[in-house]
Amino acid sequence: MISDLAEGIVKAQSLLSPPQSISRIVISGKQRNKSPQFLRIDIRPVLIKSAIHWQVVSHDGKKDITKNLRPEALKLEEFIQSGFANLLIENDQVEFTLRVTKSGQAQLNTRRVSPADVSRSDKQGNQLSHDRVKNRLLDEGEELFKHLGITDHDGKLKPSRSDKFKQVQEFLKSIQLAIEFVQVDTKDQSDKNSFKIVDLGCGHAYLTFAAHRFARKLGLSPEVLGVDERVDSRERNNAIADLLNISSEMKFSATKIAELPAMKTDLAIALHACDTATDDSIAWAVKSKSSVILVAPCCHHDIQKQLSTSPAPWKIATRYGILQERVGDIITDSIRAQILRVLGYRTEIIEFIAGEHTPRNLMIRAFKSHDGKSAANSLSSQQVSERAADVQELDQMIEQWQIKPKLMDLLRSELEQARAGKGLS
Ligand SMILES: C[S@@+](CC[C@H](N)C(=O)[O-])C[C@H]1O[C@@H](n2cnc3c(N)ncnc32)[C@H](O)[C@@H]1O
Repeated sequence: MISDLAEGIVKAQSLLSPPQSISRIVISGKQRNKSPQFLRIDIRPVLIKSAIHWQVVSHDGKKDITKNLRPEALKLEEFIQSGFANLLIENDQVEFTLRVTKSGQAQLNTRRVSPADVSRSDKQGNQLSHDRVKNRLLDEGEELFKHLGITDHDGKLKPSRSDKFKQVQEFLKSIQLAIEFVQVDTKDQSDKNSFKIVDLGCGHAYLTFAAHRFARKLGLSPEVLGVDERVDSRERNNAIADLLNISSEMKFSATKIAELPAMKTDLAIALHACDTATDDSIAWAVKSKSSVILVAPCCHHDIQKQLSTSPAPWKIATRYGILQERVGDIITDSIRAQILRVLGYRTEIIEFIAGEHTPRNLMIRAFKSHDGKSAANSLSSQQVSERAADVQELDQMIEQWQIKPKLMDLLRSELEQARAGKGLS
């Protein structure tokens, strides 16, 4: 339903009382020609010293800023005025969305939720305890962790597997963002619950199974594919899916990522896919028009091997082996991020987990923007010139360092389209 924006905001604000009925509020996206200070804001009610507050967590792509507000101090209008386009409010009865249209009106949608909705009941159970903010997204008692060998027979975390468990938990936080992005920004009402995840270089599939379970807990009907070149991984993982009785929703394929046919995907993930397998993963995800791509790269040999000559004055750094390695890592991942930017993805690089759990703790997060989704030739002139500047920077970097990044090769035709000022078709 289209409504006057001010009326839409009044309606949204009226849903906030009482705060304890709210599961969550998500504020995201940007209005045309506006640049809100944050990428996204998550709000939920919490109890602090027996008084109810709103916990407002603002994300700028690098860090989270948390503020606690008295109930009456939360004014949704201020967020919309600051340039945000989307508002999602979930309470115990409805899911309400407000989207600011290009003409500055409000598109409103209200969906009744069933009391059986797992996500809602899960969230409500924990919701008001301020101490549970650092809650794990999946409990270690979940059956899947036992079958994966992460927990013992009593469901207790094995000390030797705790780093992997932590990596999975932290990765799930980005998957949560991806699910919200896909649901709010890309899904029609008709297929709101479908969610296709492809895990590239899945190995023993700790993350693959956790992603499936997590999406299920959020009330989605996930369809998950784990891909690894190793046949023994496929056999082991399929057997675990059978044991968990979820083999209709989870499949494993023993294939090289580069040989996997493109397929429509909501979320492509890759945790520590070795060296250029990360490039294969990104290229596959772009060609599959994945709405969100989350990759935590592993080793970076491809560019490192090409750094025998470096442009002046970079020799200062690259003459030392360890620094050359780090420069190679930075060049590789910044080129990957720039390619995704050029191809119409809003791209961030974050540390998804503290370095003590893995030194490979960077994550490239890419969210397909609306212009990237739309047909070729449909970019505005401002977008065309921004893209042209981005491609030029990329080409300059390649030229200066005299390198041939694998990902540029894999996405050659897509980059040519971008050079010609076209979006992805
Ligand atoms: C470091 S392991 C990570 C496994 C898993 N993602 C995790 O974090 O637990 C990398 C996995 O990628 C797989 N792999 C490497 N290159 C691949 C390629 N080109 N195609 C498919 N799988 C690949 C390996 O067999 C291995 O299982």
